[in-house]
Amino acid sequence: MIRLEHVSKTFQTKTKEVHAVKDVSLEIEQGEIFGIIGFSGAGKSTLVRCINLLERPESGAVYLEDKNLLDCSKSELRVERQKMGMIFQNFNLMRSRTVYDNIALPLKHLKWPKEAIEKRVNELLDLIDLQERRDSYPSQLSGGQKQRVAIARALANEPKVLLCDEATSALDPQTTQTILDLIKEVNKKLGLTVVIITHEMAVVKEVCDHVAVMEDGRVVEQGDIVSVFTNPQQEVTKNFINTTNNSRKIDELIANNHALVQLKENQMLVHLQYQSANTSDPVISTVSRKYNVDINLVFANVEIVHDCPIGQIEAIFTGTDADIKSALQFFRDGGVKVEVMKRGKFIS
Ligand SMILES: Nc1ncnc2c1ncn2[C@@H]1O[C@H](COP(=O)(O)OP(=O)(O)OP(=O)(O)O)[C@@H](O)[C@H]1O
Ligand SMILES: [Mg+2]
Repeated sequence: MIRLEHVSKTFQTKTKEVHAVKDVSLEIEQGEIFGIIGFSGAGKSTLVRCINLLERPESGAVYLEDKNLLDCSKSELRVERQKMGMIFQNFNLMRSRTVYDNIALPLKHLKWPKEAIEKRVNELLDLIDLQERRDSYPSQLSGGQKQRVAIARALANEPKVLLCDEATSALDPQTTQTILDLIKEVNKKLGLTVVIITHEMAVVKEVCDHVAVMEDGRVVEQGDIVSVFTNPQQEVTKNFINTTNNSRKIDELIANNHALVQLKENQMLVHLQYQSANTSDPVISTVSRKYNVDINLVFANVEIVHDCPIGQIEAIFTGTDADIKSALQFFRDGGVKVEVMKRGKFIS
């Protein structure tokens, strides 16, 4: 649906050149929700503005449905841009216009007939569940309601793509959830392709099919959300995951030699990670009995990553070196990812 090939964008300021986006290639498939995550200044907004050519990259190609937008004439580009709606952190609504007029505005620009506009805006007001606020002004709405109006406006002329630049960053967690639910709903119902930029891992984890991680203008890691989440390669990705993942607190405990993680000679501290919920407690007691190993949980946690439960356990195993090894092998054979975090003196 969208394909970026070797896209670079440099800004010239008075004092220096800023390489905001460096040689980025990625592909976003029709109908998916694609996340772009990165810390402030990583180049996320610039990259997304390169998708709809609000910024023109100085090199590379930007394909929308196999048409390179950089080859389009001005009038062709106008048509292509209408296939992409965009929403922002600060909503960008017209303060002097009502909810109804804000949503109707892009259609007026496109010279839709009055009755068609009326019909479409009504549909959208139903979609965002704000029919009764149609005559309110933006200042009379909550942040979540404003973002719903912005979404309706972005979807007014039935685009194929919705670009969201930090659309939930100004909202509290509960309101964020309602906006994410709405985005998921339009993605499913309308088959809309959605690109979400965010610095919140929780957002990516909940809604995205694929994710690209940006650092210093580059995409340093990308893949389907469950693989990136369960097997992050880059430091920056691990940092993002740790922001939503309490279980990695263990690193801190180990660094401080906390009493919880101090080991006896015949003990080993292990991190286990598994997909799907059915691997946890019964398996642990089975393994414990079968291999004569005691297993004490330090942390246990199940995260739901895009509808897939990911279990994480940190546990202290007590037993002979050979028994612990057999127990770990049993977990590995069952598809559990095993990481040894710390060993007692008698454990090799
Ligand atoms: N119009 C501009 N002129 C000069 N420099 C710019 C311009 N727009 C962005 N930059 C610079 O490009 C880099 C990337 O900025 P960008 O806004 O894309 O980052 P971001 O990842 O969206 O950050 P944030 O999370 O804070 O929104 C930054 O160093 C920024 O200062
Ligand atoms: Mg930004």
